Amino acid sequence: MIPILETPLGRLYEADCLKILAGLQPNSVDLAFADPPFNLGKKYSSNIDDSRAEHEYLDWCRAWLDGMVRVLKPGGSLFLWNIPKWNLQLGAYLNQKLTFRHWITVDIKYSLPIPKRLYPSHYALLYFVKGKKPAIFHPDRIPVPCCRHCGGELRDYGGYKDKMNPRGVNLSDVWTDIPPVRHAKYKKRDANALALKLMDRIISMASDPGSVVLDPFGGSGTTYVAAELNGRRWIGAELHCRTILDRFENLNDDRDHLAEIHVNKNVLFTRASLARRKKAGRPLSQDYRVDANGSPCECPPVDRDQPDLFL
Ligand SMILES: C[S@@+](CC[C@H](N)C(=O)[O-])C[C@H]1O[C@@H](n2cnc3c(N)ncnc32)[C@H](O)[C@@H]1O
Repeated sequence: MIPILETPLGRLYEADCLKILAGLQPNSVDLAFADPPFNLGKKYSSNIDDSRAEHEYLDWCRAWLDGMVRVLKPGGSLFLWNIPKWNLQLGAYLNQKLTFRHWITVDIKYSLPIPKRLYPSHYALLYFVKGKKPAIFHPDRIPVPCCRHCGGELRDYGGYKDKMNPRGVNLSDVWTDIPPVRHAKYKKRDANALALKLMDRIISMASDPGSVVLDPFGGSGTTYVAAELNGRRWIGAELHCRTILDRFENLNDDRDHLAEIHVNKNVLFTRASLARRKKAGRPLSQDYRVDANGSPCECPPVDRDQPDLFL
């Protein structure tokens, strides 16, 4: 099949992902990621049926998951993004074929409150590996959460301050720093677009430059953009590719956005926090570890707001 888009690193097919998966070589992909429709009755520009019977939806998911497992290299990683209701069942299915690594909770409100239910506030990101352990695993370290007012740390790291790694804190399996994609600049994009920061984190963790990244559900192409700009090879499928083609016409905004994401990871403080600290008279030495005297943020909660999300 002829790709609708070919870049120096990637190939995008405007086709059903089941067909594309069937045509790929077994054991050829280092990282497979999927963000399928969630069967919540949404309207997609590809006009797919997003309100199937439960068993039909799950059967369909199992079919493309089988395809993804087949093409994954030994030691390759598979990530599955969905709401907990579906990932509970799809995770149990994958557990028969791959090795479970993590259920990552990504804290983003994804719908309106539902009467008599808890407010849905997270997505489930499942992380499996083919074989016993991942061939590639280098998770980002992240900055300490800081006050948006004074730049002070929101947690008191007390006596351990001088022991903190200057490259930031360990990534946990709860991610609270992934922004929803609501920026005015991205209005044209599909409402389902994932944050570039999320895809950059997954790609950085489980692939190396030159690795092959696969995403069978392109949407607005966030995975492909993150792969392309991070020097990974990539393979994509999408039934309606217009948005991705438009996005690849001019990658400058994404390139700038990714550069901003990169300067703010693997550091103890984001650029914004450093600037706020300076303004608020909370200077830091170059190496945060030698500064054990700074006190954490004491602003009233209303000023603290949320940690820096919008990177
Ligand atoms: C939730 S969106 C993916 C969003 C994407 N992760 C992003 O960041 O923009 C799911 C996409 O899967 C596409 N899709 C649905 N069924 C498909 C199929 N059988 N083959 C290929 N793409 C499909 C839909 O058109 C939709 O764009």
